[in-house]
Amino acid sequence: MLVIHDKSAIRKLVASWQAQGQRVGLVPTMGALHAGHISLVRQSRESCDRTVVTIFVNPTQFGPSEDLALYPRALQADCAMLEDEGVDAVFAPPEGSMYAADHSTWVTVDGLTSGLCGASRPTHFRGVTTIVSKLFHIIPADEAFFGQKDYQQATVIRRMVRDLDLDLRVTVCPIVREPDGLAMSSRNRFLTAEQRQAALVLSRALGDVSQMVGEGATPDDCRKFLEHAIGSEPLAELDYAAIVDADTLGEIRDFSRPAVAALAVRFGATRLIDNILLPPSG
Ligand code: PAJ
Repeated sequence: MLVIHDKSAIRKLVASWQAQGQRVGLVPTMGALHAGHISLVRQSRESCDRTVVTIFVNPTQFGPSEDLALYPRALQADCAMLEDEGVDAVFAPPEGSMYAADHSTWVTVDGLTSGLCGASRPTHFRGVTTIVSKLFHIIPADEAFFGQKDYQQATVIRRMVRDLDLDLRVTVCPIVREPDGLAMSSRNRFLTAEQRQAALVLSRALGDVSQMVGEGATPDDCRKFLEHAIGSEPLAELDYAAIVDADTLGEIRDFSRPAVAALAVRFGATRLIDNILLPPSG
């Protein structure tokens, strides 16, 4: 496995593969890898001839009061995991090499980014779409892999790829969970033992909502249920509970189209997100 820090070196490597007719899969990450990330790598290895994983803690997607400095960095351990998985190359640009000091160009997706996580993190998605566009330019992959865990992010990236006519397929992979249901996240390590236990309220409440839909509940019933469930957990502070259209992320009145139930909840300084797809019912 090659670990490459230099943009032109990774560009040349990917071009050499593609010149031989090989399909290249790309898995963008911020490192501190866990089984959720690895599921994307495995999917890429199945679908593509070559897999590149990028590891870059992208400063522009963190707000001024967010955890950029504290975000876990574990390049050596990450590379060992990726080598075991048969990854062909890791692109890990040094901090500072991705943004010039006078960087002033942004890729923004309107509308889809204003609600849900965008409401409390107003500059987050423009940071994500800008870095992902840059990565897509540096590594013009045939297919890129994202997790449903960050449902809004995956939806925004699909929209960006469509709207900018980018010639790559976006594949969204299912959420990988701990055995007790907690969605895997690089931020779970910041939870105290009590918060870790309390955080089970997210997956439990989302599972209950999925069942309620099958029993005829309305989107409004489901949202109220989620608010109540999170409100009943003393260590949890609700950021949002939303039932939205799975494509437009807009409010819905019934479950005639695919929907998603999404939660963002704070446990102390740690903000967790989770979601569940709700197929059309009735
Ligand atoms: P990061 O949080 O490292 O996540 C990288 C990818 O792993 C994302 O597509 C995310 O949805 C996926 N992922 C995380 N936890 C998962 C889980 N439990 N199950 C399945 N997939 C999971 O998301 C980012 O980085 C950044 O915003 C990035 C896209 C790299 C841009 O900087």
